[in-house]
Amino acid sequence: MKLENLYKKAIKTGIQNDLRDKEEIKKILKEEKGKYKKLKDEEVEYFDKDRLFNPFSDTRVLNGDLNTDVNKVIVGIDMEVGEIILTYLLNKELEQKIDLIISHHPEGFALARLYDVMKLQADLLANYGITISVAEQLMEKRIGEIERRLMPVNHNRAVDAAKILGIPMMCIHTPSDNCVTNYLKRIFERKKPYKLKDLTKILNKIPEYKKLAKLQVPPKIVNGSEDNKCGKIYVDMTGGTEGSKSIFEKYTSSGISTLVCMHLSEDYLENAKKANLNVVIAGHISSDVLGLNLLFDEIEKVEKLEFVNLSGFERISRNSKDS
Ligand SMILES: [Fe+2]
Ligand SMILES: [Fe+2]
Repeated sequence: MKLENLYKKAIKTGIQNDLRDKEEIKKILKEEKGKYKKLKDEEVEYFDKDRLFNPFSDTRVLNGDLNTDVNKVIVGIDMEVGEIILTYLLNKELEQKIDLIISHHPEGFALARLYDVMKLQADLLANYGITISVAEQLMEKRIGEIERRLMPVNHNRAVDAAKILGIPMMCIHTPSDNCVTNYLKRIFERKKPYKLKDLTKILNKIPEYKKLAKLQVPPKIVNGSEDNKCGKIYVDMTGGTEGSKSIFEKYTSSGISTLVCMHLSEDYLENAKKANLNVVIAGHISSDVLGLNLLFDEIEKVEKLEFVNLSGFERISRNSKDS
């Protein structure tokens, strides 16, 4: 598969699994086209043209020619300088013939603009009955914080290593997180867990959560007890990084009783407790791996790939069996 086709398929799958109204995504891309047309000549070189077709700022090809043939990929949740040197050694010493490094967490200019994708969280909250002005204003404050936090980061470090060693590299973040969010939302809608213990039982049957449970990081109820009723469930696993810490009261006032997330900072959890919201932490790495596997299932429907698992990732395909 050409690198360009793999990239475009990842974007397409991300859009298909995006829980926003599809018209919303069309509007975002149209707006970008409008901005691009209005650029002055001296501004054109600073515009990232992928924004014209890719609504996910945290997903980009970071190094390599789009025409590269990709048969074998090395995939990890975090692909930093160490993993990139390891890839080089695998190719050089063990003749592994790895064509592409895929990181889940963003690197390079995809990390620098991670904040941009967080806007989608406001639309997801609005789908659950939270007033859009409240959702947008709380998110805008948080997006500003993340933008400023990312400004001093040496964000191109890993990409520079891949460049100097001549290894193509990309990161796939929100398209994969959209896949896991959509997958779990649909499972909960179908299986309708009654109590929190029924919800964790569903998670524990999924191979990615089973694997991390064996590594001592199982899904965990961090607020509420296993005999509490789930009520309305909200899966919060996409949109860049943690949203607003002031949102939890809005969840319960709009009817949500249970939050299922990948991880939650301590001060966020305190606010969730104050709002009497049940919270289940499904697991960070396990949820990220599940999202990537669901995304690769779609990519492999186009063409099979060979995988080298690294940095928390394990390829588990659902293509040949029902799930
Ligand atoms: Fe993720
Ligand atoms: Fe993550």
